[in-house]
Amino acid sequence: MGRRQELEKRQTLLSRFGRLIAAETRLDALLTIIAEEVRHIVNADRCSVFLVDMYKGELWTKVALGMEEKILRIPMGQGIAGFVAKTGSAVNIRDAYRDTRFTQDLDRITGYQTRSVLAVPLKGREGRAVGVFEVLNKGKGAFTDEDEGLLRILATMAASFIENATLYEDLRRSHLETIYRMALVAEFRDQKDTGRHLRRMSRFSGILASAMGMTYQEAEDIRYASPLHDIGKVAIPDAILRKPGKLEPDEFEEMKRHTIYGSQMLVNAESRLLRLAAKIAIAHHEHFDGSGYPYALKGDQIAIEARIVSVADVFDALVSKRVYKGAWTVEDAKTYIRGQEGKLFDPAVIDCLFKSFEDIIAAMEEENRRILEDEAFKSNFPEPSAKPVDQHPHI
Ligand SMILES: [Fe+2]
Ligand SMILES: [Fe+2]
Repeated sequence: MGRRQELEKRQTLLSRFGRLIAAETRLDALLTIIAEEVRHIVNADRCSVFLVDMYKGELWTKVALGMEEKILRIPMGQGIAGFVAKTGSAVNIRDAYRDTRFTQDLDRITGYQTRSVLAVPLKGREGRAVGVFEVLNKGKGAFTDEDEGLLRILATMAASFIENATLYEDLRRSHLETIYRMALVAEFRDQKDTGRHLRRMSRFSGILASAMGMTYQEAEDIRYASPLHDIGKVAIPDAILRKPGKLEPDEFEEMKRHTIYGSQMLVNAESRLLRLAAKIAIAHHEHFDGSGYPYALKGDQIAIEARIVSVADVFDALVSKRVYKGAWTVEDAKTYIRGQEGKLFDPAVIDCLFKSFEDIIAAMEEENRRILEDEAFKSNFPEPSAKPVDQHPHI
């Protein structure tokens, strides 16, 4: 290819790159697009985008291991990418195994053999490195100065998009986490199982929503809004909420009001998720046949999101141990729910529960594993009674 054609081709690739990265706001997808395009443009065999995690003082990237994708973390300063992130200068080497900065760990994990490496910093708005572009194994020979210039241009183009997507992702996560922790506050007063039920019923709700044919986004919304279904319980007096025995009729009437309190707390929120949570909170105890509360709504008068969440909620409550009952077997819970078809629950939602049962069980097991990890972490914060004896008594 002539020089001129070569330049034209590069210009086309650059403008395509700009167009593609401007169209994607999700960090995950953005990083995949960038890696693929950069690899192509500089004619490398691989491209990794490393991002700096300031909080942990590490760099992370995604690596493909067979069918799986894993997050790989390396300390700042370690390896080529770590060096580039720390010093802010580019590295271009012909034979990686002869360079002392190179660590073979990644090759060992992935079974890949690195030869040539070109890495440039991704500079953020304030001029510090927010990440590193690293390309491996040039098609022919080693990477040239021209490749380095090109990679720097790509890095400059991509940096602000990556920064924005990262900020957006952080915001989204903290929004979700805040919602979840709000739900935990409400649950903490009577269950104290710190989220076991919330996590599982939330996963089930998302799976049921997908099985009902909802879009990915709708199912995700239901998943993240559903833990707030009982938030209104914070307004129920202890004497009722924590009463060990059976509730008197007037106490039960007050207990039922947790649906109304919950929706009052959430109604008219600006957040789409909180508005959805209000819809779920008010109707999660309505029954398909109109025998539920607070408004005795029937069938499709009940919001579909609430019909979904009520199945997820009850199924999880059945298979969990509660103060007033032991845990049911999964089979018994299934039989009970099937028996409530058209009574408590929407038959269409029950069909979806059975259709996606394998996913439900897989999600339950995954959440149980996570809960065990959390509990191990919490043992760092023992109850005060378990506090070690004071080693330095006051004189
Ligand atoms: Fe409830
Ligand atoms: Fe619940």
